[in-house]
Amino acid sequence: MAEQKLRKEDTLAMRHRLIGQSCRLFYSDDPVKIVRARGQYLFDENGKRYLDCISNVQHVGHCHPAVTKAATAQMDVLNANSRFLHDNIVLYADRLAATLPEKLCVFYFVNSGSEANDLALRLAQQYTQQEDVIVLDHAYHGHLMSLIDISPYKFRKLAGQKEWVHVAPLPDTYRGIYGRDHPNPGQAYADTVKDLIEEIHRKGRKISAFFAESLPSVGGQIILPQGYSTKVAEYVRSAGGVFVADEVQTGFGRVGSHFWAFQLQGGGFCPDIMTMGKPMGNGHPLACVVTTVEIAGAFTANGVEYFNTFGGNPVSCAIGLAVLDVIEEEDLRGNSIRVGAYLKDSLAKLQARHEIVGDVRGVGLFVGLELVTDREKKTPATKAAARVVKKLKEEDRICVSTDGPWENVVKFKPPMCFSTEDAELVVRCIDRILTEMKTSDLKLENEDI
Ligand SMILES: Cc1ncc(COP(=O)(O)O)c(C=O)c1O
Repeated sequence: MAEQKLRKEDTLAMRHRLIGQSCRLFYSDDPVKIVRARGQYLFDENGKRYLDCISNVQHVGHCHPAVTKAATAQMDVLNANSRFLHDNIVLYADRLAATLPEKLCVFYFVNSGSEANDLALRLAQQYTQQEDVIVLDHAYHGHLMSLIDISPYKFRKLAGQKEWVHVAPLPDTYRGIYGRDHPNPGQAYADTVKDLIEEIHRKGRKISAFFAESLPSVGGQIILPQGYSTKVAEYVRSAGGVFVADEVQTGFGRVGSHFWAFQLQGGGFCPDIMTMGKPMGNGHPLACVVTTVEIAGAFTANGVEYFNTFGGNPVSCAIGLAVLDVIEEEDLRGNSIRVGAYLKDSLAKLQARHEIVGDVRGVGLFVGLELVTDREKKTPATKAAARVVKKLKEEDRICVSTDGPWENVVKFKPPMCFSTEDAELVVRCIDRILTEMKTSDLKLENEDI
């Protein structure tokens, strides 16, 4: 076990004193102190094991030995900035290119999803020479000021909406304006973007970009309806803008059937700019923007160098290459298809027995369980969702979290080595918790639980 430096209460006291209070902990009432991890398991300071359904960053499993080996081997030889010519950055870009449509072929390596999205915004604005951006409602694209501006999830609580930012409805077929009973929700939601573009034009403005996650996650684990992105891209491009896909959460095979979630749209849909991050370095800070030759060309033509001190360094790229190897060698996409389907089907069975389960949706190991106090009205069961999270941690040592505008969607984005046994355990425990809650707890929605 890793050496214990501080008692838990001392760590907590120091954290309160030294770390900004807006940097919140999971389970802030009684945080878990994790001292080591392996695969999909976390271990606390007493050696107790927790099943991790949260860490989509530790994509191929916590502390995967192949990733550690690649990192330490490269650290022992060279780590320098990317202005020195080195093989790793080009070999890694070449491997990533092989997973993408041909037109996405120019890479910029950075250190976080926020940096990637900030650069994507710059690329779009430079290429189109326009400023305005369309984003989806409830979206989150990062913590930099430029991204707070295009993240309704944040700007609604802070400075408000800038005049160059326009919010399109979230294409949520469970609780949005067009449901699953609509004959073509993809087209209907895409038309809301078309209408928005017309409104922007009436104001005498022009768009630079439509910016969206390929599966809106903070929005509540939303699966975009078929045909949506293709149609939106058509409208956006004909208005002179570009389509930016944020794959920071959804990339690297999480959806199983495809390497990138935008590919779920089918029909050869391809964004003009795509960003990636979280799972890319399995916990090492590594992120990237990929775009077309034309867009990259416009960025180069402004004559200003783009230099990123840490982005694309030999160690980061060695780690990125090792992550790609593990995804392939351990068939983690196949695992995501199999275990994800089992998890989703098992949760759907709970829906038949528990009134509180309003919706179960997902693809691969990107799954959401939406809780409601009233199925007809779809009233969000926010407190019940919080209770499920708390009980899973305290009674079963399972870590899950919630998302969605009302924090009533229990989300599952575990490391990709998550097994059928893990899924079976989680569903069994949720079943027990929902059964215990059934009689009394729906009434508690308006009280403290
Ligand atoms: C969809 C999405 N984009 C961008 C980001 C920002 O990434 P980072 O925290 O690495 O800056 C996040 C982080 O949660 C995210 O979920």
